[in-house]
Amino acid sequence: MKRRIFVTTALPYANGPFHIGHIMEYIQADIWVRFQRMQGHEVLFICADDAHGAPIMLAAEKAGSTPEAFVAGIAAGRKRYLDGFHIRHDNWHSTHSPENTALSQDLYRRLLAAGLIYTRQIEQFHDPVKGMFLADRYIKGECPNCGAKDQYGDACESCSSVYSPTQLRNPYSTLSGAAPVMKASEHYFFRLSDPRCREFLRRWIDEPGRLQPQVANKAREWLEGRDDQELADWDISRDPPYFGIRIPDIPEEKYLYVWLDAPVGYFASLKHYCERSGLDFDAFVRPGSGTEMIHFIGKDIIYFHTLFWPALLHFSGHYKTPDHVHVHGFIGVSGEKMSKSRGTGIDPLRYLELGMNPEWLRYYLAAKLNANVEDLDFNPGDFMARVNSDLVGKYVNIASRCAPFLQRRFGGRVLSPAGTHDPGTRMAVARSGSLLRDTCARSPAIRAFYDGREYGKALREIMALADAVNQYIDENKPWELAKLPEAETRLQLVCSVGIDAFRVLTLYLKPVLPKLAADVEAFLGIEPLQWADADRLLAPDHAIKPYEHVMARVTEKQLDALFETPKEAPMRSAPPPRPSPVKGEGATGADISIEDFNKIELRVARIVLAEHVEGADKLLKITLDLGNSTRTVFAGIKSAYDPATLKDRLTVVVANLAPRRMKFGLSEGMILAASGEGPGIFLLAPDSGAQPGMRVK
Ligand code: 2FM
Ligand code: ZN
Repeated sequence: MKRRIFVTTALPYANGPFHIGHIMEYIQADIWVRFQRMQGHEVLFICADDAHGAPIMLAAEKAGSTPEAFVAGIAAGRKRYLDGFHIRHDNWHSTHSPENTALSQDLYRRLLAAGLIYTRQIEQFHDPVKGMFLADRYIKGECPNCGAKDQYGDACESCSSVYSPTQLRNPYSTLSGAAPVMKASEHYFFRLSDPRCREFLRRWIDEPGRLQPQVANKAREWLEGRDDQELADWDISRDPPYFGIRIPDIPEEKYLYVWLDAPVGYFASLKHYCERSGLDFDAFVRPGSGTEMIHFIGKDIIYFHTLFWPALLHFSGHYKTPDHVHVHGFIGVSGEKMSKSRGTGIDPLRYLELGMNPEWLRYYLAAKLNANVEDLDFNPGDFMARVNSDLVGKYVNIASRCAPFLQRRFGGRVLSPAGTHDPGTRMAVARSGSLLRDTCARSPAIRAFYDGREYGKALREIMALADAVNQYIDENKPWELAKLPEAETRLQLVCSVGIDAFRVLTLYLKPVLPKLAADVEAFLGIEPLQWADADRLLAPDHAIKPYEHVMARVTEKQLDALFETPKEAPMRSAPPPRPSPVKGEGATGADISIEDFNKIELRVARIVLAEHVEGADKLLKITLDLGNSTRTVFAGIKSAYDPATLKDRLTVVVANLAPRRMKFGLSEGMILAASGEGPGIFLLAPDSGAQPGMRVK
């Protein structure tokens, strides 16, 4: 059955750039959305900037800007992050929009008509200099208990006693420094304490599958109230000056509290999208519309999404309520907690600017995400291990082990497991068939993990399958088969099976690695993979295209750069001068030991492909076969060699050189060449008989 799903991520405040916590949530939801689309379901993936409220108004003022211009500036910076991490919402709008004004005011009117809104005078601190009411966070003073200065209005950091802002001694406004005065004003309240609300919310929360158990418990606790604390009515109005949406139909200037219009922003963005794409907005949001509505949020905003928001929607009598609210924990870095406003030590933009692959992060986060409300830790060592050992070492490796043989020896054509008389091949056929069957057979289990947001479990399954494929390759040793003329068919079969399994693994990984999957689809010469393709094999005689390495390894250097804090200007002495290399014949510096020399892993490599690099005047891009892996290196030999003449030549490569990101791509090693004072560069070549992968020592 085809599902229609409306998915949102929490609307970020438009007062600063994204931090890693935002990116994590978007990646989590993006994976889920891409997965559902691969099932053939219709999904609308929506977000917007949360533009209103006092903090944004004050931030704009501080920046010497109007709130409108300020939030527009923030909005303009969003795309770089979203595109950079392959996060593809269908629409990104703003709560400061005509759609949101109309929808929020309409919602207010419906709740008023339902008898759930009333007004009452309340007394609050007012800053006489700023001319505005002060939320608690803008008031400081002396602790009523111990007298410590500059304490916030809720609790003392010095003696830990808890109190209310009105109990502070000598309170002052953090905005102007003025002593605040108590002032009365009329506020609008939503009657959350109404028995109808409680009764509705009880049912809503208890609905199986609606909330994660932890989240349902939390919501229930708030709903039923603890000890003497009843669920209070909700103050939904604010006095001017305020950046927000006017309360309609009253003469006074009053605004809807930002937390009322923020979730309505989900609908505003959806409506904005529907109007531009000819879709029926009502069909998504009315009760009984058959659309599933799913919010991805962080654990700090559960209250708003499991009490206020469903109650507002339900009692409007006009909208459906969320079918599922999926809550995730926070992300910390190396055990350090994230601050909601400052984020963590990882700056997502810096990550991108360093040329780090966004899909490494997608993979790493997915590997750590599950369906629970658990905090997650970004650990650099763990990151490197998962990306290099699992993703590249297991999965990508399959393609680099199989594709070059198919390419070189069989014009890229695959062979499907079929009958043959040669006993070795017959054995391989049997094993090949079961390997592919097993790989495809995990599709329902992996699907269930993705659907249930158990991404870590899905990836563990996938990597276990990759292990099995590598084991199959190890057992069949295509590099040995390649030397035996009589094993021609078996070589083609083994590599074909490896490539077909690689295709299925790519399909399983596609929600997490959309860019890589697209590259693989192009290299395999196949249509965009859908989930149902796990039930099919490549057509016999299908031809793949030349393989290019699809993913490099992450390096320590990159991680160091990511976490590097801006350096202080050198205060003490300059670093010692580096010894300059001695030029000329013979010695070029101190002697090295044999152990030192043995650290250099020199290997014979076959040049599979040599290409010009657009824009580079010295470099050639060279694809090397090292026997059981493929590497890409950039070599400064363009002046001496025509790439066409290099194909199939053997040379020597430094195989354990740390990969280096160059302007034109990642170089994963260095090929050796000689040069002297005169012109000419001379590539090293082993004597005939040497095989790719052999160690040079
Ligand atoms: O906590 C936040 O960052 C809010 N801006 C989230 C709003 S989510 C939705 F309700 F709009
Ligand atoms: Zn105190």
